[in-house]
Amino acid sequence: MQAAPRFLQLGPVNDRFDARLAQSHGGVPLWRQPDPAAWLRAHGAAVEVLVTSSRHGCDQALLDALPGLRAICSFGVGYDAIDVDAARRRGIVISNTPDVLNDCVADLALGLILDCARRMSASDRFVRAGGWLSGSFPLGRQVSGKRLGIVGLGRIGRAVAHRALGFAMAVQYHNARPAPEAAFRYEPSLLELARWADFLVLTCPGGPRTHHLVSAEVLDALGPEGILINIARGSVVDEAALVRALEEGRLGGAGLDVYADEPNVPDALRTRDDVVLLPHIGSGTLETRLAMENLVFDNLAAFLGRGRLLTPV
Ligand code: DGY
Repeated sequence: MQAAPRFLQLGPVNDRFDARLAQSHGGVPLWRQPDPAAWLRAHGAAVEVLVTSSRHGCDQALLDALPGLRAICSFGVGYDAIDVDAARRRGIVISNTPDVLNDCVADLALGLILDCARRMSASDRFVRAGGWLSGSFPLGRQVSGKRLGIVGLGRIGRAVAHRALGFAMAVQYHNARPAPEAAFRYEPSLLELARWADFLVLTCPGGPRTHHLVSAEVLDALGPEGILINIARGSVVDEAALVRALEEGRLGGAGLDVYADEPNVPDALRTRDDVVLLPHIGSGTLETRLAMENLVFDNLAAFLGRGRLLTPV
């Protein structure tokens, strides 16, 4: 009989998840070891399955420390923090948790659109600070009927687009190439999409291909009335250019759930009233996080039972 694969968990997900992995698969929590590097030197060769997350990823150095690794199961849909090419060269299979988070992430995108345009967070601060007692809150902008540009019409992008139809918005999208069977107009130029859009929503993957895709030029195309929404990855936006565009009044506002160097959010953003700043909570609901957790465990079971992952990347 084949020996049970050894499981290693790189970083914490949540208490329930961490306990479940330890109980069901004897998963070793690397971050709880007194000396993780020493643990890897002593036991790394025995590890066959790595459990990680979008946040913790898996770099080349960790892959080198795990010469017997066969599978990486990741909690989260994004896998830009995993060295996928290096893993593939060694025949290591990788799973993520797609689809189960589409609705919650798309809901949050709409929330950010509404908040930026109607200035809900800013007006909440206004009421709390007693501002209403001495004046009215400045007018916001209408959302219904406006133009929505989506950068990355994948699963989440489509969920955002369908929600926008409920607000009678016109939707266009930009991808590297047209998305199959998309019901929305494809715009091959990101600059043109930004020029056209009132709201530019980023739902593309992170990683080298999309690094700083939203440049100073794209922000200028979106313009002083335009609003940028980023629920993708901080790396997609040139954050310094974003700050400059806001400071110089060349961009209307921004709703951000992700940043270049999480959890560090530049002071230049934190002090502004025309941005809505969320702490990377796109998938952060009880329901969705449980569905993501279950999908990780279903992938583990499928790999153990059939040697195949359910949702390979
Ligand atoms: C994801 O699943 O990739 C989300 O961004 C959470 O990290």
